[in-house]
Amino acid sequence: MSYPYQISSYEEYQIAWKKSIEDPAAFWGEVASSFTWRKKWDNVLSWNFTEPNVKWFEGGKLNITENCLDRHLEKSGSMPAIIWEPNNPDEHHRILTYNQLHFKVNQFSHVLHNNGVRKGDRVCIYMGMIPELAIAVLACARVGAIHSVIFGGFSAQSIADRLQDAKAEFIVTCDGAFRGAKDIPLKNVIDDALIACPFVKRTIVLTRTRTPVSMIKGRDVWWEDEIHKVETLGNPAFPAVEMDAEDPLFILYTSGSTGKPKGVVHTCGGYMVYTNYTFVNVFQYKPEEVHFCTADIGWITGHSYIVYGPLSAGATSLLFEGIPTWPDAGRFWDIVDKFKVNILYTAPTAIRSLMAFGLGPLHGKQLDSLRVLGTVGEPINEEAWHWYDEHVGKRRCPIVDTWWQTETGGVMISNLAGITPAKPSFATLPLPGVDPVLVDENGHVVEGNNVSGNLCLRSPWPSVIRTTYGDHDRCKTNYFSAYPELYFTGDGAMRDENGFYRITGRVDDVLNVSGHRIGTAEVENAINMHAGVVESAVVGYPHDIKGQGIYAYVVYGHMHGDEELTRRDIAYTVSRIIGPIARPDKIQFVMGLPKTRSGKIMRRILRKIAEGETENLGDTSTLLEPQVVQEISNGRLIH
Ligand code: WTA
Repeated sequence: MSYPYQISSYEEYQIAWKKSIEDPAAFWGEVASSFTWRKKWDNVLSWNFTEPNVKWFEGGKLNITENCLDRHLEKSGSMPAIIWEPNNPDEHHRILTYNQLHFKVNQFSHVLHNNGVRKGDRVCIYMGMIPELAIAVLACARVGAIHSVIFGGFSAQSIADRLQDAKAEFIVTCDGAFRGAKDIPLKNVIDDALIACPFVKRTIVLTRTRTPVSMIKGRDVWWEDEIHKVETLGNPAFPAVEMDAEDPLFILYTSGSTGKPKGVVHTCGGYMVYTNYTFVNVFQYKPEEVHFCTADIGWITGHSYIVYGPLSAGATSLLFEGIPTWPDAGRFWDIVDKFKVNILYTAPTAIRSLMAFGLGPLHGKQLDSLRVLGTVGEPINEEAWHWYDEHVGKRRCPIVDTWWQTETGGVMISNLAGITPAKPSFATLPLPGVDPVLVDENGHVVEGNNVSGNLCLRSPWPSVIRTTYGDHDRCKTNYFSAYPELYFTGDGAMRDENGFYRITGRVDDVLNVSGHRIGTAEVENAINMHAGVVESAVVGYPHDIKGQGIYAYVVYGHMHGDEELTRRDIAYTVSRIIGPIARPDKIQFVMGLPKTRSGKIMRRILRKIAEGETENLGDTSTLLEPQVVQEISNGRLIH
């Protein structure tokens, strides 16, 4: 495949960016013409950021899987589409060519159809990182169903909340998933979730771990049996369902500063064009290269840069089932050497956790196939950046620091590998289509360089969030109301003397723990559900590996057993309600929380104490009971 829109110099970048902002419709209309459309659009773009109401490629008809699969078959059918490396290095890897992936997606599309899935239906996918996860995602897209992938680290309660919100009647899952030394019983978790979701009609279960599962007659079927039925019919192709460019492609739940996770909705046309464009440009992908994104498909990074971006570009995408440190901390490097990986895209937290093992695990590893390195998910500290550059990239590989969000669908601010300059800990420059602005506390746009503010985006890009599922007002309030006619990211940023952006972290009550977004309100709600807890406040604190750790201040009534046991009970409660990813790292019991006279918790003070600050806690004179601050500060848990 060739990419006529691949930028090949800094000057070209500048021209493309300027054009994209001055005339987005002309710019993206040209990019989109390289894709396969059943019918061309009538209108490239109509938008307002007040409602918000954004439509790209209106009237265009397509199926994204024809772009990710069918259109590559003639020229590159025998090229690897997916390389799969299992958790256990002793198990054999698998390679699926474009022909094979196309075949399997067609088969599973029949399975979905035979089980009643139709255009617009919501299908929840809760699986480990195996090729069948990508196959299930693509088959949903092929039949026109809306997939909602849930990360394997979420609990039954979280799944039930999402199933209810999406009104999903179909589930695709596995008996279990392997992750490092663990075997996670996914189907059992689904069974617990389904107690609260009687509307679920069908669960399709793939065999992976052979852990015992219960299969309920009339509701649960085996993936393999259903495939067999399609085989006996001679495996006919499944004609891709024609979708409107603005039909929803998927829902992905993500945490915000208030309430339950929101279902971010992305649509077929714009999301396809933008993930492909950013994949090709940020990583400067060259045909036949192997792209290894270490994220889980349960997060947006996996959706955009394991599945849709690479496959729509005809690339080879490596999918890894395991974790970076099992069976040892050389796992990534072995995979890079084994498959001659050219692009490695991972999270700063993974880099930091590997740094902690020293250079031993890198000994004897070639890593000479690597051409580009990338990071995503959280700010990367300079130390980790240099370690990645020196010991992994051997100073030969540009590092792209890609800033973006679930809501933006694809990379927004990043250098382009080897084309635009990198600067450690800076995401640097906006991609074409992206017009960042910094806004001060009073809502005024901050002009010039060497300034900071809240990061907003001024013009629409093709994969901007369209709505939050079932509640458009929530989308408006959360993202488009803070500042008129701007999309507010929730992040703070600074712009240096060259106009490069550095993301400084969330300015709202959202934590970023090991690159996972977690709302403090969500964790507090879970803690408060534990019997005996009166109230709680959760803040983040700097954590060497995770980036941010979760620090909980808990007001407790009657203690059942000792403090340590109670701490563990509370942590376990959070695991059960949200999932192990939201377990607090520190729980401090306190007599009261610092509150203003109007009852608002002063998180600023709690954050400072959690960060280790004992002096300079700022103005406490407006507090209802200023003495609690001293008490909390004295009892601070040292990390
Ligand atoms: C943070 C992940 C600094 C940021 C793709 C954002 C980053 C949130 C970077 C979105 C980066 C992501 N530098 N911070 N390169 N990338 N973030 O929705 O706070 O899981 O708002 O999407 O991660 O997280 P999400």
